[in-house]
Amino acid sequence: MSSQRLPRELHTFQGMLLPTTSSKELLNSLDSFDAREDDVFLVSYPKSGTHWVAEIIENIPSARITLTPPIELGDISRLEELNMYSGRRVIPTHLSYNLIPLDVKQKQCKIIYIVRNPKDTAVSLFHYYRDNPRLPSVETWAAFLELFLQGDVVYGSWFDHVLSWEEHKNDKNVLIIFYEEMKKDLPKNIKKITTFLGINVSDSDINKIAWKASFNEMKTNAIKENCDPNHTICALTSNRSLVFRKGVVGDWLNYFTPRQKKAFDALFTEKMKHSELARRLQE
Ligand code: A3P
Repeated sequence: MSSQRLPRELHTFQGMLLPTTSSKELLNSLDSFDAREDDVFLVSYPKSGTHWVAEIIENIPSARITLTPPIELGDISRLEELNMYSGRRVIPTHLSYNLIPLDVKQKQCKIIYIVRNPKDTAVSLFHYYRDNPRLPSVETWAAFLELFLQGDVVYGSWFDHVLSWEEHKNDKNVLIIFYEEMKKDLPKNIKKITTFLGINVSDSDINKIAWKASFNEMKTNAIKENCDPNHTICALTSNRSLVFRKGVVGDWLNYFTPRQKKAFDALFTEKMKHSELARRLQE
């Protein structure tokens, strides 16, 4: 997307469209971030289930977890602010692999990457564009889908994002979690997450976490809670009530015309032909 046509809510950094709430100075300084060996990065393309996994991690008993704001949100003071957090930091981000701070890679911090079916992700992001004043306005679903397919949306192309992480799917510090698999069997995926983080939890704790992280419970609490803009985990809004829309698999069927599905599938096949993650998304 040429910079003349950029909406005021977005700017580019190293070829990726990012929200202007991520300052250039901060983005340029990410490599000076001091990682700690027990840091956990919670990474996703927007609308893949970040709040859901964050809720799970926050409710693990006796884990000394401190959920921080996204590393890329705000100005340069973010890096210093992150230094002040005690406990085990869980740091959310929507950055693709190449933009992750060097020290995180060197120290092999644990990284959880969440993937969601791209058609449902597109529908979810479309609604976010419509409801969230921090994102550009968009007239119609058809117009938004064009932007999504071209990668001209916040955090760029879904395909490139997932592929940047796919290359690291077998790294021992990386765990890939699928939105659809969480919907199918949440306790199993909570167990996967706690095991990956090296935390022992009982079956009864897992059931408690699953209840806390159910869609209805999270939505109800989001509406009740006051939003503290300093305690957002979302790089795109501090208004949690915008996040919990439907929470289902397959909502895309209500939006895609047969023609749009065909165009989407053609691009998916072309871009993701060597992707094992893509195969799992189609299972
Ligand atoms: P929908 O817009 O399809 O409803 P993120 O947290 O990355 O912004 O992702 C938001 C998406 O995850 C939204 O999707 C939201 O409803 C869904 N979501 C959040 N919590 C969920 C939960 N507990 N169960 C299922 N989906 C959830």
